[in-house]
Amino acid sequence: MVDFQAVLDEIYAELQNTTDKGAVASYIPELANVDSDNFGIYLNNIQGDDFYVGDWDTPFSIQSISKVLSLAKAFSLVGNKIWDRVDVEPSGNPFNHLSLLELENGIPRNPLINSGAIVIADILVSELENPKADFLAYVRNLTNDQTIDFNLDVAASEKETGYNNYAAANLLKSFDNLENDVDEVLDFYFHQCSIEMDCQQLTNAFFLFANRGKCMRNTAHLTLNQVKRINGIMLTCGFYDEAGEFAFEVGLPGKSGVGGGIVALLPNEFTITCWSPGLNDKGNSYLGMMALEKFTTKTKLSIF
Ligand code: DON
Repeated sequence: MVDFQAVLDEIYAELQNTTDKGAVASYIPELANVDSDNFGIYLNNIQGDDFYVGDWDTPFSIQSISKVLSLAKAFSLVGNKIWDRVDVEPSGNPFNHLSLLELENGIPRNPLINSGAIVIADILVSELENPKADFLAYVRNLTNDQTIDFNLDVAASEKETGYNNYAAANLLKSFDNLENDVDEVLDFYFHQCSIEMDCQQLTNAFFLFANRGKCMRNTAHLTLNQVKRINGIMLTCGFYDEAGEFAFEVGLPGKSGVGGGIVALLPNEFTITCWSPGLNDKGNSYLGMMALEKFTTKTKLSIF
């Protein structure tokens, strides 16, 4: 049996004093205020034991990690119809890339790049009665934590500077792959990305992906088939043009966000979240990637 706490302590000690921690995202101005020295890890095994180190209880902007939760909600609402509007292939391109979208007639490569997540946001705006409140309630329920909330300053900051996402949404609209108004869909999307959670909350929110679709403490669930598909998409698309590198170095399905969080999981075993706000040049947490590589190497626990 692996001593998870000892492994986390060791990784933390090895990486804590790394001088090059990457650069905090600044294209969303509000994110640039975060201290790049933050570093935390939280792990929950399938039996419900938890292990943690560092700044695991400091909330941060989950950003693109929210795309997995919006996909889960949309998938449970409309089922396989989703795949008529968004594909499931890795893009091999940055998260905000647009030219493939035009070449491929407005069908995004996958639901985890920005254009794909905007299509998922459109589905939720159509399907939910009060889209923002209902989605927040879904995330709170998955996590079993009613304190989780949007950061309205981060949402406003992204709205002011999100020209690339406006371009993506307009392109989707021009290809008839957006039902609702661009402004309404992006307002929802910027809010979902602005949700703040700490490493513990994110780990709890993703528990059902490691636990065959079932939450630990409440009734929210996905089917096993849905979990298989979402985990497959995380493995192949969760890190954009670094998805291959993540599979190669770490070997787990996972998802990153430009707030510096990464969640990864080993089905039937554990869920782990790392947070360090400095990013590498692909927009993924610099220390987070290193920490997870060390974790699966030291524990010999990966899907491979
Ligand atoms: O749309 C955006 O650009 C951000 N709200 C989310 C991007 C993101 O987190 C990419 N992840 N590494």
